[in-house]
Amino acid sequence: MRQGILEKYRYFLPITDQTPSLTLYEGETPLLRAEKLSEELGADLYLKWEGANPTGSFKDRGMVLAIAKAKEDGSEAVMCASTGNTSASAAAYAAKLGMKCYVVVPHQHIALGKMSQAVMYGAEVLSIQGNFDQALAMVREITDQYPITLVNSVNPYRIEGQKTAAFEVCQQLGEAPDILAIPVGNAGNISAYWKGFVEFKEKGHSHKLPRMWGFEAEGAAAIVRGEPVLQPETVATAIRIGNPASWKTAVQAAEESNGAIDSVTDEEILAAYSKLARLEGIFCEPASAASVAGVIKMRALGNLDKGARVVCVLTGNGLKDPNAALAHVEVKPKVIPCDKQAILDVIKREEGL
Ligand code: F0G
Repeated sequence: MRQGILEKYRYFLPITDQTPSLTLYEGETPLLRAEKLSEELGADLYLKWEGANPTGSFKDRGMVLAIAKAKEDGSEAVMCASTGNTSASAAAYAAKLGMKCYVVVPHQHIALGKMSQAVMYGAEVLSIQGNFDQALAMVREITDQYPITLVNSVNPYRIEGQKTAAFEVCQQLGEAPDILAIPVGNAGNISAYWKGFVEFKEKGHSHKLPRMWGFEAEGAAAIVRGEPVLQPETVATAIRIGNPASWKTAVQAAEESNGAIDSVTDEEILAAYSKLARLEGIFCEPASAASVAGVIKMRALGNLDKGARVVCVLTGNGLKDPNAALAHVEVKPKVIPCDKQAILDVIKREEGL
């Protein structure tokens, strides 16, 4: 029986008798062994498939708690800045509890599916002629001044909820992996996973800690460059962020775990994106593929030990960004006459018949 993470991890979360029992059945996502990629990389590679969450991204884990706590604290409205997934998730959970949801997104830099989700769940969607970092700065000011709850990952309940993914990884593998590879945008998720791994070990449920490998998109790699990127650019719109809010805790996670924060190019991201679909049957969004692109890069640099057990977090579902798929994959649907022979002609050519 599925429970949802508030119920399942109740004793690891700041839940009281007053916390509304809220769930869309988030969490309990698959951990898949990537057979072909494992072979190719000489590693033992797994994919944590967060695209299987109710709104199609990992955000649901933190959002269910952030929205439940907002309601518990008497709030009637929530707000976030978003590159898309946070807004979709906030809108869904706010709808479920009958709360008002305001989302501020960068105009024309949010994937189609995410926009359609926010609209369908009934959020007030404000599309600004600016980027995510500018949106976040404004919503932080507004929520400081007005009785609206901020549900970006600077809200500590978001991190608390998201840390449950690390618990699941340990439970699914029977132990923490050697390496946890993850895309980095606003840097909340890498901070949450590290917190989760540390807590799970402290409570005696696991016996080791993974090295944390975080990967930014090269055109938005503030942490790698050591300074904010004023005009971040990447095909991976979800992580098109130039001044990550959780910068410090992300660096801490990398340092304390003897890991690293590195960057991957759009070409490397797109290559991994299409590899995941074709070799492993997983259609994730471009930003998610940064984790796998990063591991491929590390292997090429000689930084991946043979046989290392690696978990790559695939943060969001590829269906959210259909335009990216169609724009960046060379093969296009063939348009043919409505004729059985025309279909057979293609098959015969393909099969060499
Ligand atoms: N992958 C996806 C699919 C995302 O949507 C995000 C962040 C990340 C990775 C990076 O996670 O920010 O915790 O480092 N999306 C946010 C949003 C910013 O608004 O949906 P992070």
